Amino acid sequence: MRIFSGIQPTGRKHLGNYIGAISQYVSSQERGEGIFCIVDLHAVTVAYEPAELRERLYDTTAILLAAGLDPSRCTIFRQSDVAEHTELTWLLSSVTELGRLQRMHQFRDKELAQRELVSAGLLLYPVLQAADVLAYRAQEVPVGEDQREHLELMRDIARRFNARYGDGQEVLVVPEHRIPAVGARIMDLQDPTRKMSTSGSGESGTVYVLDEPKAIEKKLASAVTDSGSEVRRSPEKPGISNLIEILAAVRDADPAAVEAEFADARYGEFKAAVAQDVVAYLAPVRERYEQLRADVPALEAILDDGAGRARVIASDTLADVRDRMGVGAPRAARAGRPSGAVDTVPG
Ligand code: TYM
Repeated sequence: MRIFSGIQPTGRKHLGNYIGAISQYVSSQERGEGIFCIVDLHAVTVAYEPAELRERLYDTTAILLAAGLDPSRCTIFRQSDVAEHTELTWLLSSVTELGRLQRMHQFRDKELAQRELVSAGLLLYPVLQAADVLAYRAQEVPVGEDQREHLELMRDIARRFNARYGDGQEVLVVPEHRIPAVGARIMDLQDPTRKMSTSGSGESGTVYVLDEPKAIEKKLASAVTDSGSEVRRSPEKPGISNLIEILAAVRDADPAAVEAEFADARYGEFKAAVAQDVVAYLAPVRERYEQLRADVPALEAILDDGAGRARVIASDTLADVRDRMGVGAPRAARAGRPSGAVDTVPG
């Protein structure tokens, strides 16, 4: 089974990213061929600082490695190193409905958040995301709940491409999302009606993967709880429900088991237990990170090797897609040419 996922190199990675996505990437290495892409081209669709983008990309790469992605067992690469992603975006845009892109929740949220330019890139963001996955004919995509809509669009794009150009064949694989049962949507600690994110209620609502233990303890101690005193999940208790979900996720336990264990506990006691386990969960990642992040040439070598492996797969898909769409020379003719012939300028 081929498993693909992408993560943005922007902002600092937080507990939501870690529980909802990164921990799934790590465990997927046991189940199949994992391909993980750090999506720097997605990052340029909103205002950003060019000088910082590469640094953040190294940060994200080092976090993925520190979490347990092993480049000898999976492929880790930088999106912009594999040009097939952008070409496929363009080709797939011809089977993507404009109105659907305009209605996407993330587009509308980000559109409202932009102070200056709402770029065309922001609108095309989900098509690039579809291209990321479809270029590898991946069967499974581990993501958090907030990516569900993007995955549905991606599936529709693949289906529409196959219907229009496939001649009865599944040229592009229609992928399945893999959203975890526990921790698919970790909420902000200060405003548990919003998902945890780098642009949420501020520093105190978001636990970062690289936070010091003291900072994690402080954030959890001041997490918003609800009226009442029972440690129990309920729609009226979003704060406590979120903490139960967090503790269950970091322990790899059932939320019901957490509720049972803390049935007689006070909120303060429960929050201290959550803090302790979150600190223990993230501590090894932070320790490994420091060493990995310090060696930029080693990170570049991993990304470069990953891009080489990714390109082999993506270029094969692209050759099929171009062929089906009638773009460029026929695949059979291209295969027969001596390598390099296409690009050589005679004389
Ligand atoms: P990004 O970088 O925003 O987030 C990376 C992953 O973290 C998950 N996530 C969460 N999970 C649980 N609780 C939260 N509060 C939380 N916040 C974020 C996200 O669901 C995601 O899985 N568009 C994507 C990147 C992308 C991609 C792809 C993903 C580009 N191409 C191809 C899958 C396949 C994004 O912005 O993720």
